[in-house]
Amino acid sequence: MLRIAPSILSADFTKLGQEAEDVLRGGADWLHVDVMDGLFVPNISIGIPVLKSLRAATDAFLDVHLMIDRPQRYVEQFCKAGADLVVFHLEAAQPQDIQTALDTVKAQGKQVGLSVKPKTAAALLIPYLPQLDLVLVMTVEPGFGGQRFMADQMPKLAQLRDAIRAQNPACLLEVDGGIDADTAPVAVAAGAQVLVAGSAVFNKPDRAAAIAAIRRACGE
Ligand code: DX5
Ligand code: ZN
Repeated sequence: MLRIAPSILSADFTKLGQEAEDVLRGGADWLHVDVMDGLFVPNISIGIPVLKSLRAATDAFLDVHLMIDRPQRYVEQFCKAGADLVVFHLEAAQPQDIQTALDTVKAQGKQVGLSVKPKTAAALLIPYLPQLDLVLVMTVEPGFGGQRFMADQMPKLAQLRDAIRAQNPACLLEVDGGIDADTAPVAVAAGAQVLVAGSAVFNKPDRAAAIAAIRRACGE
C-alpha cells in the first residue's frame, strides 16, 4: 500500500492545525515534518515547539525529517516532542554518532530512518539497513520545497529496494522532493512505498483532489 506524506513545509503556518486536518481528511496517510537548521542545509524551517503543537493537534503519524548537523544532539528531544518516526541524514554525523542516534531513537520506542542526499551513494547506507524502519532517498537537494524531481536518483532507489528486500523487507522506502502526479509513478516503479509531497499537495486549493491524483497516477 502506497503511503502519501504531505510535507507541511508548504503549508500555511498561521493555521497549521487546520492545514494538517485538511490533508488528513483529504486522504493523507502521514504528515512529513521538515526540520532545517541553516547548517546542514541552507535554510531554516521549524523545530521542537512546532512539532509539540502539531502532536497536540493530531493523532496522525508524524514523519520527522531532520536536516540538521549532528542529529545525535537532538533526536531524543524530537522523540519526546511527538515524532512517530525520526529520519536523519547519513551525511550529518560521524559513523559512531549515527549509531548513537539510531540507538537513542529506538530506546525512545520510536521508528527510525536514515536519509541520503542525491550525491551520496546507496552503498554507504546499506550496512545500516538491518536496524532501519525506513530509508529516505532525496530526489532534490534538501533545503527547499518546490524543486524539480531528479530522475537520475532512480537507479539508487532500485538498488536500495533490492538490498531492503534481501536484508530487511519490513523497512519502508520513501522518496522526497519534486513528487507530483507525473513523477510519483516513476518513483513507485523504482520501489518507493512512501511519497512525500509538499507543493504538489499544499499549493493546490483542493488537497483531497491533489492526493487522489497522485494515487491514481500510481495505479491505486
Ligand atoms: C526538501 C524537503 C521536502 C520538501 C518537499 O528539503 O525535505 O520534504 O518539503 O517539497 P516538494 O514536494 O515541494 O518538493
Ligand atoms: Zn523532507
